[in-house]
Amino acid sequence: MKQTMRLDKLLAHTGYGSRSEIKILVKRGVIRMNDRPVKDSGIQVNPESDVITVEGEVVRYREFIYVMLNKPQGVISATEDTRDRTVLDLLDEEYTHFQPFPVGRLDKDTEGLLLLTNDGKLAHNLLSPRKHIPKTYFAEVEGAVTEEDGKSFQQGVELDDGYVTMPAQLVILRPGDPEQGIVSKIELTIMEGKFHQVKRMFQAIGKRVVFLKRISMGPLLLDEHLLPGEYRELTEDELLQLRQANG
Ligand code: URA
Repeated sequence: MKQTMRLDKLLAHTGYGSRSEIKILVKRGVIRMNDRPVKDSGIQVNPESDVITVEGEVVRYREFIYVMLNKPQGVISATEDTRDRTVLDLLDEEYTHFQPFPVGRLDKDTEGLLLLTNDGKLAHNLLSPRKHIPKTYFAEVEGAVTEEDGKSFQQGVELDDGYVTMPAQLVILRPGDPEQGIVSKIELTIMEGKFHQVKRMFQAIGKRVVFLKRISMGPLLLDEHLLPGEYRELTEDELLQLRQANG
């Protein structure tokens, strides 16, 4: 059972304002606990068993949030930055007050699936190199990507720092034609997450990624209804699958 916590902390977490704002609500007599008006904003409450209402609305407490973002190009996967907009700048205050952070990184010019959460344990597990969570990327690559390239990726390629990648699966969706300036369209599934990994894997075979988008991470698939910059909370089913994949 969840332990007790201060009422003002619970309400602040749930988006009802700062502690001083909650004090004012208490003074106005609009906060009730188990149908009695609350007199002290610092009282201990049990979020699981006490029924709290603010102006008649039942407070739904939760500790963690899980947001699927379709990251657009031009924003960075960080919680703050002095120069660039971050993925957190895209979220409403309703979500940011939970202090979520991105689970892993996508490059500034990479689009696609990015999970944001304040659940440190789940994030840590998903990022653990021991877990080998598969991540699939859609990419457009200059020139012709071939089945031979697929074999190289299956065997592992040596990156610019000497690291040899784990086996990765390449699917050629449309072979490119350099003569006609047609880029190759591919999907690549990798089981690890080295810095700029997909771009560097193509660099290792002499090719250049010109567009990159993550389309899945473990059991999570990017919701195709989300335009770049849009987001939604994970469904219960997605969360369950993610927890199962995490072991
Ligand atoms: N690989 C890359 O090169 N960039 C990303 O953003 C993700 C994977």
